Amino acid sequence: MIAGRPSFTLVVAAVVFICVVITFLSSGSVRSQLRTTSSPTRLAYSAQKHGKSDVFNATLGFEKVIVIGLPERSDKRDALTLMSALTGFKLSWIDGVIGKTVSDKALPLGWDRETMQDNNLGSWRGHVNAMRRIVEDGISSALIMEDDMDWDVHVKAQLEQFSAAARTLQKDFHRNQSLESPSPYGQDWDMLWLGSCVTTFDEHLPAHLKVVEEQRDPRKVLIFDDPTVPLPPHILANGSFSWEEYPPRTRIVYVPGDNVCSFAYALSASGAQKALHHMGLEGQYKPFDNHLSDLCRMRVDGMRCVSVVPSLFVHHRPKGKISADSDINKAGQNEEMREVGFTENIVYSTRLNLGNLVRGLEPEKQWAE
Ligand SMILES: *[C@@H]1O[C@H](CO)[C@@H](O)[C@H](O)[C@H]1NC(C)=O
Ligand SMILES: *[C@@H]1O[C@H](CO)[C@@H](O)[C@H](O)[C@H]1NC(C)=O
Repeated sequence: MIAGRPSFTLVVAAVVFICVVITFLSSGSVRSQLRTTSSPTRLAYSAQKHGKSDVFNATLGFEKVIVIGLPERSDKRDALTLMSALTGFKLSWIDGVIGKTVSDKALPLGWDRETMQDNNLGSWRGHVNAMRRIVEDGISSALIMEDDMDWDVHVKAQLEQFSAAARTLQKDFHRNQSLESPSPYGQDWDMLWLGSCVTTFDEHLPAHLKVVEEQRDPRKVLIFDDPTVPLPPHILANGSFSWEEYPPRTRIVYVPGDNVCSFAYALSASGAQKALHHMGLEGQYKPFDNHLSDLCRMRVDGMRCVSVVPSLFVHHRPKGKISADSDINKAGQNEEMREVGFTENIVYSTRLNLGNLVRGLEPEKQWAE
């Protein structure tokens, strides 16, 4: 009798959890309105019923979700595996690369080992390996993310809103011949930059980053009344504008501009080819994320990108040793401890709600707003 109890408890917990998730997805609690800045017509966000769009499938509407991580960071794999299981999607791991293992002969054009960090080199190689995987395996689209990511427990509902906005922006993109299989995010994108840390809009680019007139595209689609957008002072990442210019709880889908941080981005098959060409073969003389931003901003090989702020994927800062945060910076120099983990810009953090989710409890906000 006693031996039977734990499994019964588990079954009850699982059923309760599934009910909570279904309630969240069907209650429209994260439903919001979409509107382009150029035309105030509302998009039929609710036309695609929850669950019908492929965005809700086990790979978030992409063919794969690829995570780049060093195999020895088993702590990060544990966290991400649990988080993706609890929010309903599957990960494909690809090993990160230690910079010093990159042979001198394989160094990208322009890389100077004397002045540039081997750790940035490793980061570059890990991302380029992920791009090559997409090209090699003929993958139609994949979301690539770093292994310290966090996202909102409502990520699928967020992605559905984002997909409608992204499709609107693509109306002005060239026809992308390489995206042959249908994507819920539209057919004409090369990259969807879903996780970055600082946004500079096209119209605010500083002189040294300005692109030629015919490549400029300041269009935006606004998602209003999104309860998963934090209120000030917790809403960040605005590098070139003030959040006060927008109503509270607005998420902005836009054509970048300049982005910093390569937390998470999706590539279509054609986008992966362009990215492998530019990031792999055409040289690398600055950190990976700056180079990725150039690829979008300068429309290299016709690259077309869509981005979103606040981001849907943001790196988590866990409690514990601060030096363990990043594999780019060296460990051991900083033995400072962080008492409480946090993730910028994510209201219902999956990482911080793991305890609630495994117990079947409602997710909580990171900040009392
Ligand atoms: C999810 O949807 C995408 C786009 O339609 C598709 O490529 C992918 O295979 C689907 N994933 C699963 C697990 O069915
Ligand atoms: C970002 O927005 C906040 C308001 O939420 C504002 O105080 C801050 O100055 C903005 N940052 C930039 C760089 O404009």
